Amino acid sequence: MGIVFPKDFYFGTGTSAHQVEGDNTNNDWWQGEQDGRVKYRSGRACDSYNRYEEDFDLAKSINTNAHRFSIEWSRIEPEEGRFDEKEIEHYQKVIDALRARGIEPFVTLHHFTNPIWLAEKGGWNNSKMPEYFSRYVEFVASHIKGVKYWVTINEPMIFGSHGYRIGDWPPFQKNSFWGYGIAVSNMVRAHKIAYRILHRINNEAQVGMAQANNFFDAYHNELASRLFVPIISYIINNWVWDRIGREQDFIGINYYNHNRVHVRLSHYEKWFNQNENKKVTDRGWEIYPEGIYRVVKNAARYKKPLYILENGIADEDDDQRSAYIHDHLMWLHKAMEEGIDVRGYFYWSLLDNFEWETGFTKRFGLVEVNFETFKRRMRPSGKIYGEICRTRSIN
Ligand code: GCO
Repeated sequence: MGIVFPKDFYFGTGTSAHQVEGDNTNNDWWQGEQDGRVKYRSGRACDSYNRYEEDFDLAKSINTNAHRFSIEWSRIEPEEGRFDEKEIEHYQKVIDALRARGIEPFVTLHHFTNPIWLAEKGGWNNSKMPEYFSRYVEFVASHIKGVKYWVTINEPMIFGSHGYRIGDWPPFQKNSFWGYGIAVSNMVRAHKIAYRILHRINNEAQVGMAQANNFFDAYHNELASRLFVPIISYIINNWVWDRIGREQDFIGINYYNHNRVHVRLSHYEKWFNQNENKKVTDRGWEIYPEGIYRVVKNAARYKKPLYILENGIADEDDDQRSAYIHDHLMWLHKAMEEGIDVRGYFYWSLLDNFEWETGFTKRFGLVEVNFETFKRRMRPSGKIYGEICRTRSIN
């Protein structure tokens, strides 16, 4: 039978609002797309705002028992202080549609996008941001029924890095390390307040954050690189979790990357991404399944349940995806055998979708989407993942 996962293990998939819903005209990404500051336009995306039932039928057809998606703040609070109950009704239907199919919802409250009114106030650099976020969380959590698992904020470090350092995502600031730090700090503060609100409203709630974790090691074991590895690992992987401290019920990990750090006297950007084994995804990211084991071992220090909230591959031809999933699950299971409390694995993504600065060109989906007709088609790897979910095992 091979490797078997526990009975209550969550095998899921993930998406986020702006990447799949379509017509999110009221957020800062949309604005950046219209202004040409983002090269691609999300447009109708996968039209999942209207087609979520069809999406969840597909998720059910491959036997998943959990799904992570996000609520779009700019729909809930289109103008400052005006909350839209109609949109709550919509998301309630989304949650009910998952439950009706026996799929546990994992709800993300912030996945990169911000309402335009908020962006105009300086977004996550505004010191009142935690307050704004808590008002939104309070409204959502007191209206939505049937959610146990909440992911407050997705990947603060990635959000900060693209928005304030690389400058290719809103708010399009380059090398603003100050802005980066303030944004991440405000996200930590916002998370903590949201944690308390979510628990006050439902004491059964399980609340965490999704953090991108890279596995770093040293290029050719060189001394300078070796000394740098623990520093960069700490900053990227652990700093946010450490700052959140006890106010998280689980640790949410998004794992995609291995970085062989090469410290040298040249531009620091070149210190990272040494794709030595040359096996890369369509995104150009090295495929390194052992890394999932390494980051999980690292996160075990918090002694909390762990969830892999994202792991996936851009693979248009679908010729690497099933091996990718298999190999990552194999390494994940190894960590579990060594006693680490991993409770779920969410493949990114259920559907091909709007992959941020690369638009629709990178295809992560178990389900292929035709972005003109919105036709969905299960990929062969989706069916293979479906067998893994059904048998809860890999060979
Ligand atoms: C992220 C996001 C997702 C991405 C995915 C693939 O990690 O950047 O959570 O929205 O689409 O990671 O890049």
